[in-house]
Amino acid sequence: MLDPKVKELINTQINQELYSAYLYLDFANYYYDEGLDGFANWYDIQAQEERDHAMLMRTYLQNNGERVTLDAVAKPDQTFNSPEDPLKAGLEHEIYVTSLINTIYKAAQDVNDFRTMQCFDWFVKEQGEEEKNADDLIKKYQLFGHDPKGLYALNQELLTRTYAAPSLVL
Ligand code: FEO
Repeated sequence: MLDPKVKELINTQINQELYSAYLYLDFANYYYDEGLDGFANWYDIQAQEERDHAMLMRTYLQNNGERVTLDAVAKPDQTFNSPEDPLKAGLEHEIYVTSLINTIYKAAQDVNDFRTMQCFDWFVKEQGEEEKNADDLIKKYQLFGHDPKGLYALNQELLTRTYAAPSLVL
């Protein structure tokens, strides 16, 4: 069993991760509409990774005898005026998710829940990668995205991203 506050925060985070998946599917939809299938592919895979995060947290709660409660997933409601907009929104969102993961980690630390801290070490590290990936995308877009040939090449590069299962096994 887990501390009730830690359990509740992780249960809420499952919803946040599913929302992240939904948000990135919405980004992908925008890029498909714009004819940028590489950017769309990148976010389709990102959405899959977010679902993985939710499933890992679900398994963690279940492995600790906790009942998981699923809530409604909020509707993504952003509008974009440029291919750069979702990239910036993505970084902003990941910074927010980092704050949520840190809150879980701190709650676990406060009650000496070393098991949750050990599990969430992976998510803390993952958030570092998520923020870097989002920031790298913005930098690449700013360097190459305003030139049609550069945008084409960047789109082709993002088309090569393939899905890899998470390295965390529970
Ligand atoms: Fe689940 Fe993008 O962090």
